[in-house]
Amino acid sequence: MKKLISASIMCADLTQLGESVSQLEKANVDYLHLDIMDGSFVPNITLGFDLVNAVKKITDIPLDIHMMVNEPGRFIDRMNLDKNDIICVHYESDIHIHRTLSQIKDKGIKAGLALNPQTPLESMEYLTDYMDMALIMTVSPGFAGQKLFAGAERKTAAARKMLNELGHADMPIEVDGNISPENGRKLSRCGADIFVLGTSSLFNKGKDMTQAAEDFRAVL
Ligand code: DX5
Ligand code: ZN
Repeated sequence: MKKLISASIMCADLTQLGESVSQLEKANVDYLHLDIMDGSFVPNITLGFDLVNAVKKITDIPLDIHMMVNEPGRFIDRMNLDKNDIICVHYESDIHIHRTLSQIKDKGIKAGLALNPQTPLESMEYLTDYMDMALIMTVSPGFAGQKLFAGAERKTAAARKMLNELGHADMPIEVDGNISPENGRKLSRCGADIFVLGTSSLFNKGKDMTQAAEDFRAVL
């Protein structure tokens, strides 16, 4: 499967977001990763739906929406997304996650299921038919600048094995959190396909984004 880059917008210069997006277009990133947080599912509040819709209007890069909110089904209709975009919801955030995944897919939008570091892979075993992507969190969600959790490689490899055995060898695995070039290389070898790039790689103060993206791709 092709290895893809998803640029974490919460790590961009939000005072120059338009400029950041055009730099990311030049860098040829494959997705824009927008972290939506409610201050309850995670102890942080970042980007909102008005910003999602504003970004959607200024670029053709598909959006990769990471919903770190409780009961995300309440908000699916607040975003003007299309078939190229992904909405990723957390298993831990919704007692009816199957219904929420179906709600996303019924709108013709790709659905991703995110698992926190401690959440067992078995949680997705009966949901894979409602998923277009599995997001393996490699840090506890909510903040940029954290360190990879100890089981990240082992869990990513086990996720790839499980999805293959369930007949979903073509389902991409996304990894999110402290994806430096070195961690990206290791996780790519474990089976990761989509890499959320934030302060650990793409948004390094002063580094040209196109160069940073090229440097990252070079190690995969
Ligand atoms: C974490 C966020 C990320 C990411 C940022 O909840 O979802 O977007 O961690 O990248 P890093 O970890 O490299 O700063
Ligand atoms: Zn994220």
